Formats: sequence, structure tokens, C-alpha cells
Amino acid sequence: MGELVDLSSIRKLITYPYYVEDISDFRIKKLRSLGIRGVYNYGSVVVNGFKVLGKGHASIVLLVSHELLGDVVVKVRRLDSKRSSLTNEGYIMSLVKYDVVPKVYYYDDDFIIMEYLDGILLSNYVKLCSDEELIKVFIKVFEAAYKLDLSLIDHLELSRPYKHVMILRDGNVKFLDFESARSSKTPCNLCRVFSSFVSMFKLKEVSHIRTLLKTYKSGKKELFKDIIDSILLSIK
Ligand SMILES: Nc1ncnc2c1ncn2[C@@H]1O[C@H](COP(=O)(O)OP(=O)(O)O)[C@@H](O)[C@H]1O
Ligand SMILES: [Mg+2]
Repeated sequence: MGELVDLSSIRKLITYPYYVEDISDFRIKKLRSLGIRGVYNYGSVVVNGFKVLGKGHASIVLLVSHELLGDVVVKVRRLDSKRSSLTNEGYIMSLVKYDVVPKVYYYDDDFIIMEYLDGILLSNYVKLCSDEELIKVFIKVFEAAYKLDLSLIDHLELSRPYKHVMILRDGNVKFLDFESARSSKTPCNLCRVFSSFVSMFKLKEVSHIRTLLKTYKSGKKELFKDIIDSILLSIK
């Protein structure tokens, strides 16, 4: 897990990309008051000499130790993020009714505290796996997208799922990064994942599946099984 260090070690990192002393003091105090007792120097990305789990356009993602929850993730809003708050993202994630997103413990303008996903991003997985394994993973992603649809949440970015899908050690998949997500009466995460699947495998003659997806999107979510069957047939 890497070395657990005091939060004061990330006082510059916590206001990335530049250091603002009073905001740093405020943020570190806040994390301490929320029960965070230290941060792990751990992850595949190095920022200012410190290892972190991730660095996006909007945030820095840290593995931390919480006094009650154990090892959890803190997503920290970057000071140059175009979003003024992470509240909407945390709120939308908390609305998901199935186990297809990290469990959210806390959110405010600057932080989301959530479950740590020990896994590999789809973007890295595709480099390592065979076509057969990739198809199996995509079936999992279709199922997870269906559960997100049933939760009436539209992620909106799943036509490029590679950075937004984590494959866990147990083979299950979860979605990340709900920055652009919103509530919707007719979400179709499944439609977007399917589009990326079509381009990945260069599938032709899928117009009947697109027709099914249109009806699915308009409310007939019970078509899911038929859609999966048709997808499986199209790759035979
Ligand atoms: N709950 C989590 N568990 C493990 N890694 C995570 C978690 N959340 C985010 N990450 C890592 O951090 C990266 C950036 O997170 P993301 O939510 O995409 O940030 P941004 O909104 O800034 O793009 C992800 O690609 C992933 O590698
Ligand atoms: Mg991102």
C-alpha cells in the first residue's frame, strides 16, 4: 500500500496545481476533522514527487486511511478545475441503486470520500487481454450500464469508456468519474457502451440492435436480455 504519511506531507499537493497557503490549511484541517488520519504515498501517477491513484483534469485522487472506514479514496478538486464544486458528482453517485459505482461516504465542494477500487482501468486492460477476454469484460460493462440505466443516471461519457470503467480483481466492473453525469428519465448508458463496442470490434450490420436500443431507451428496459442476445449473435 505504500507508506502512510501525515497529511502535512501533501500540503502543497492538496491545492494542485499551485500552492495557496490558506486554502491548503483549510483543506487539511477539513480532512482531519472528517477522520482522515494519513495519506498513502501510493499509486501509478507521480505528482510533485508524490504517488497518487490518479490525476484528472478536475482532480487529484489519493488513497488515504480513515479512522473508521479504513483505506478509502479522496478525490480532491483541483484549484484550476472548471467546476466550482464536486457536490453534484458526489450526489449523483450516491443516487445509484446498484453496486456499479464506488460507495460514496462524504462529499462537498472540494472532496469526495469514496470506496477504494482495487483494479485496472479498461484502458490498460485492453492492452493486456485477448479479444475473447475483452468481449467477456464488455458483457460485464453492458450489465453495469443497464444497472446505471435502471438507477436513472446518465453518465454521458461512456462512448469513451476506457478511462471510466474499472475492472476489479473479482471480475466485476464499476464506473468512475461522474463529473458530467446527470439524472435522466431516459438514460442510455447501454447505448453509449454499445457504440464503443461496435467501433472496437468494427461490427457491421447492427441496425437491428440500434432499433432495439431506441425502444430500450424510451422506457422498455426489459429488452436488455434480448439486446445482449443480439449483441452476442452479431459477434459470432
Ligand atoms: N474510487 C477509486 N478507486 C481507485 N482509483 C480511483 C478511484 N477514483 C478515481 N480513481 C483513479 O483516479 C483517476 C482520475 O479520477 P477521475 O474521477 O477520472 O478524475 P477527474 O474527474 O479529475 O477526471 C481515475 O482514472 C482512476 O485511475
Ligand atoms: Mg476523468
